[in-house]
Amino acid sequence: CGIVGYVGNKDASEVLISGLSRLEYRGYDSAGISVLHDGELTVKKAAGRLKNLEEKLQEEKVHGHMGIGHTRWATHGAPLDKNSHPHNSNNGKISVVHNGIIENYMEVKERLQGLGYVFYSDTDTEVIPNLVDYYYSGNLLEAVKKAAADLKGSYALGVMALNEPDKIVATRKDSPLVVGVGDKEYFIASDVPAVLNYTKSFVYLNDGEFAELCKDSLQFFNQDGEQIEREVTEITWSAESAEKGGYAHFTIKEIYEQPKALKDTMTGRIVPGKKVKLDDIHITKEMLEDYSRIYIIACGTAYNAGLIGKVAIENLARIPVEVDVASEFRYRNPIIDAKTLVIVISQSGETADTLAVSREAQKFGARVIAITNVVGSSIAREADDVFYTWAGPEIGVASTKAYLTMLVAIYSIGIYFAELLGTQQESYLENLKKELLTLPEKVASIIADTTRIEHFADKIHTEKDVFFLGRGLDYQIAVEASLKLKELSYIHSEAYPGGELKHGSIALIEDDITVIASLTQRDLLEKMQSNIKEVVSRGAKVMAITFEDNHDVEHFSDEVIIIPNTMDLIAPILAVVPLQLLAYYVALYKGLDVDKPRNLAKSVTVE
Ligand code: G6P
Repeated sequence: CGIVGYVGNKDASEVLISGLSRLEYRGYDSAGISVLHDGELTVKKAAGRLKNLEEKLQEEKVHGHMGIGHTRWATHGAPLDKNSHPHNSNNGKISVVHNGIIENYMEVKERLQGLGYVFYSDTDTEVIPNLVDYYYSGNLLEAVKKAAADLKGSYALGVMALNEPDKIVATRKDSPLVVGVGDKEYFIASDVPAVLNYTKSFVYLNDGEFAELCKDSLQFFNQDGEQIEREVTEITWSAESAEKGGYAHFTIKEIYEQPKALKDTMTGRIVPGKKVKLDDIHITKEMLEDYSRIYIIACGTAYNAGLIGKVAIENLARIPVEVDVASEFRYRNPIIDAKTLVIVISQSGETADTLAVSREAQKFGARVIAITNVVGSSIAREADDVFYTWAGPEIGVASTKAYLTMLVAIYSIGIYFAELLGTQQESYLENLKKELLTLPEKVASIIADTTRIEHFADKIHTEKDVFFLGRGLDYQIAVEASLKLKELSYIHSEAYPGGELKHGSIALIEDDITVIASLTQRDLLEKMQSNIKEVVSRGAKVMAITFEDNHDVEHFSDEVIIIPNTMDLIAPILAVVPLQLLAYYVALYKGLDVDKPRNLAKSVTVE
């Protein structure tokens, strides 16, 4: 999660601990440092808070002038001491900190095991120091370059070699890394704020580039090993805005992190031409055939992801799915037995009601799959199977990137079931997988230009009531969009299925009321357009979200937000993004505390 590295004349442990403490706000579950001390790459690590590591360092002091440090947010392997970073090679000669996910680590691990290397952790990272060691013949940069060429996936790396004191080699691919430039001292960090108190001069490393930091030299190289010049950027941000990567709030930063979160969550799981691979789900065809129903249970935004899960899994796997909020489900004497499969969804993995449902379901003999963002959380530990969303820590109270990755989880599980049961044509599933893989880029294109959304947000920010409409999966999106607006902007809003409008809500439609409609489901387009006309004729102002090919809606909507074309079943991943942005900008125009809306908590661990 967080990386810090130092070479210079200061006490490396002190610089590293200071850097890691400045990254604490990002959330982590363990921490560690490696310092060249007394002729050894000495590693100290501790699960839990940074103060556990500090206490350890009080007792067992390490002094040196070169070191790397890390705060870990678990992806592979529980948050235990042995899984924390840094990781050393078997012979203790190479030390590594890593952010990201190595996709082909099993393959590399087996290769290294064949060469006699032994592995002690459950992490993907541990292959890296051993791989670097394998290639090492006196030149760390060369060895890291060779190792990086063997790695698939994402990484930001800081590497030290025992035989080359006062040198750190760093590289990155799809995971951020900066080099801090000081006076006869250099730093690496996953984020600027880590070392902003030591320097304001930074080089942003690009994918595929390598940096070699020595006490009195700093050099950069490209993939081909040629030395390159890199410009130094002077940072003018305050420490506080630096924490948010220059964004005004964590919420907007997290909305912008969604392409990466989606990509990471699909990494190694959804691969064209291959069946969906879910390492921590151990359900066989026979077991699946035996389930008579599936319950999806969750709270808040995770529940809204479950609503989409019902449609997706029923469509893909043809098994009946029921969705409920955990605090209702628990107390309604639900029908659960060994023929029931329960899927619980929870970003934090700690929500009390969701955890209680999981326990209760297991008591009645049901199998529980957890979808969660936090490795080693209570819900993850107790479930029979787990799908980890690799969204990274989410700090904004209103969930955005975690929600999008929950949807990826649900589609992945749906396709996985369909592949086991043979309920869908292979060609359809293949298309779906290929299309899912295009979504990170499509989300990026939506967030690239927010002018129209900001404009509409400005127009509606003084409203008292807003209506969200949709049919089919657009209704489930309306539900989540309505929740986002309520949470962030405190505007009362209601989500209504288009077809239900005339059975109630239409009584509330009057002149100038705001209606936000989502139209991504092709079979329901005409019906939905009729619903929009119904509200427009009663004076509503309408913002419509629709895909590129649908031009009709422009004729009767005040604002149209166009999202890229995709397959209907997975359109929610795109459709919700402009609506998250809308909620954010409305809150901004109202001058509200976007990251910490009143009365809400990120994780509700009381019943
Ligand atoms: C709280 C948060 C919501 C979240 C819900 C469920 O109410 O404010 O944003 O959706 O808890 O949290 P979980 O961690 O279980 O997904």
